[in-house]
Amino acid sequence: MKHNRSLHAVFSLVLSIVLGGLLLAGCGSTTTTGSSGGGSTGGATSCGSPPKLTKSTGLKIGFSQNISNSPWRLAENKSMSDGAVAAKDILTMTDAGGQDAKQVSDIQSLISQKVDVLIIAPLTETGEVSAILAAKKACIPVFLVDRDADHTLAKPGQDYVTFVGSDFVKQAQLVAAEMIKASNGKGKIIELEGTSGATPAILRKQGFDNAIKAQPGMQIVASQDANFDRDTARQKMQTLLQAHPDVTMVYAANDEMAQGAIAALKAAGKVPGKDVLVGSIDGETAGLQSIISGEQLVSVTSNPRLGALAFQAISDYASGKSVPIWVVQPDKTYTKDNAQANLANGF
Ligand code: AHR
Repeated sequence: MKHNRSLHAVFSLVLSIVLGGLLLAGCGSTTTTGSSGGGSTGGATSCGSPPKLTKSTGLKIGFSQNISNSPWRLAENKSMSDGAVAAKDILTMTDAGGQDAKQVSDIQSLISQKVDVLIIAPLTETGEVSAILAAKKACIPVFLVDRDADHTLAKPGQDYVTFVGSDFVKQAQLVAAEMIKASNGKGKIIELEGTSGATPAILRKQGFDNAIKAQPGMQIVASQDANFDRDTARQKMQTLLQAHPDVTMVYAANDEMAQGAIAALKAAGKVPGKDVLVGSIDGETAGLQSIISGEQLVSVTSNPRLGALAFQAISDYASGKSVPIWVVQPDKTYTKDNAQANLANGF
């Protein structure tokens, strides 16, 4: 997966390492990174790069979730729990509440508990890198799910085993294609972006913006970070509508933000789906219902049920099979043509 990188990433890593170091210091001397962690007997060179997994059953698995504030995240949590039950593993789950520093300390705590494997859904691409590297040093193989890390700072197949997740650029291109088709390539767009620094926020913006740049009749008139959050999006949209009352389209980087935008459009006296076309990503039940009612044009799925793929990758890795550096979760497009038939697939 290619990502846009910047100097900012390097500064973030330095900050993250300093922060991680402070947190480690706060955890006491036995919880520092290195050969004493993860139940291992050796350092990074002796346990492999990424560290090998010698046990295959009854694993102690730590799952570090970045936040559990939406139907998407709750579905992902359930999928991880179900995966652990099916594999007869023991899962310890942590919730970082949307804070990089908390997620670093959560991961450190899981390292101290000597888990066999870490599954991490990192909040941002740089914020958890220090903890991913600390896990490697403690000989614990890491599987990233749903969001990736910055490959210039932590390498898949080396510092962590793999990234299990969707093709975010493609998701955004599919939304753009539906919006272009429905508007005959004409429109003024407000874009609501996801959490700054998170893989899906970076890549969905990249995929959408590039598709729209190729359309001379379409223009993104405003673009703002609404943190993948419904109410933040509603509030931002309310303000943006005052500056851009002639907007004809909203692209939201997830269904929660699309729901917030739809509420703001209605409050401003506009008819979503008629005056303003709305497109987004996830395939949430609320998004599917909005498509069925005509208020939303499209939602491309971003399947949160990543547990089966993640636990399969862990099992393959334990048995010595090769695991690709990106296990791609396939997604599909929901429009008025198939939303009703797929309502039961929502979450
Ligand atoms: O990382 C996946 C994205 O994060 C989901 O699409 C979004 O809804 C969530 O907050």
